Amino acid sequence: MTDQNINLRVPGPTPVPEEVARAGARPMVNHRGPEFAAVMSEVVEGLKPFFGTTSDPLLLTCSGTGGLEAAIVNMLSPGDEVLSVTGGVFGDRFADIAQAFGATVRRLQSDWGTASSPIAVADALQAHPGVKAVLLTHNETSTGVTNDVLSLVEAVRRDALPDRLVLVDGVSSIGALPFSQDGWDVDVAITGSQKAWMSPPGLTMIGVSERAWDEHARATMPRFYLDFSKARKNADKRTTPFTPAVGVVRALQQALQLMSAEGLESIFARHRRIGERLREGVGGLGLELFAEPSAASDTVTAVRVPAGTDASRLIGGMRKRGVVVASGQEWLKGAIFRVGHMGFVDDQDIDLVLAALRGAMAEELLEKAV
Ligand SMILES: Cc1ncc(COP(=O)(O)O)c(C=O)c1O
Repeated sequence: MTDQNINLRVPGPTPVPEEVARAGARPMVNHRGPEFAAVMSEVVEGLKPFFGTTSDPLLLTCSGTGGLEAAIVNMLSPGDEVLSVTGGVFGDRFADIAQAFGATVRRLQSDWGTASSPIAVADALQAHPGVKAVLLTHNETSTGVTNDVLSLVEAVRRDALPDRLVLVDGVSSIGALPFSQDGWDVDVAITGSQKAWMSPPGLTMIGVSERAWDEHARATMPRFYLDFSKARKNADKRTTPFTPAVGVVRALQQALQLMSAEGLESIFARHRRIGERLREGVGGLGLELFAEPSAASDTVTAVRVPAGTDASRLIGGMRKRGVVVASGQEWLKGAIFRVGHMGFVDDQDIDLVLAALRGAMAEELLEKAV
């Protein structure tokens, strides 16, 4: 199997259209010159509708985890109390970062595979009224669950504390699922170029609200490379404080042109349709989803493997058939596999996944019978 004929169906990095790959490979330009400034302007403008914001998202050169760290260190001070609303690996990671930088972290765990509960958030905030920031995960990639960010934010805002922050990990959602940073009153929203954006890894894009900028001015956690003030000062001149991943920014520019041509609503509808197609197909093969159906994600599907089968066997069988999916993480390793379906994906890709899965399952049953 060469990388040309792989159907890459891990939840990031996701496949990159040919023209996006070509844009990323164009000759370098001066990142302090007019060519880069024009590219950056177009990228910042192109991101706004997907973030649902009128303010300029920041571009930082690092992966999504760097974006999560940036959100923490730019918004908080050591000792600040944080409510981490988590139900999987990435929610836990957000909490761990806050802890590493000296926040006092209260963890509100939902069972993995279930959505975070707004009622539980409201109760937790009643129990901990001093919470300065609430950490949410829009799409928990480790379990295939999409959380209802609007309802969760409403639960946070019920107390009407004017400077309480809501930081949202939208790494595997923004660009594929509806998101409205301004409309939902989200303070910091983070995504990554290698997910819904059909671009290579290397950039995190971060929306920052006015409330967040005010709190940033007071926040004292240590930061240098990821400092939002430096990023904003340079972004005003359409450049970056440090050398950016120029190729990735250019790839993203091209990807955003494709996304704008397709249109937001069509992109969201395609993801909904494809998510359903995969879930139906998986059910038709007699397998169960890991996520509760009402919260099943339209960008990543986690599938339980039948008792007595190790997921790695099915993953290996699918790989032999040209389809690369991801394993479960932490205690879910062996128990589930995960299919990414965000960004550059159509119905035919899903049919190929299902055909490979059917083949791998048949082989597995055959082997067991021997
Ligand atoms: C929801 C979520 N948050 C954070 C991350 C971390 O992003 P990265 O691997 O780009 O650091 C991921 C990556 O899969 C993710 O899916």
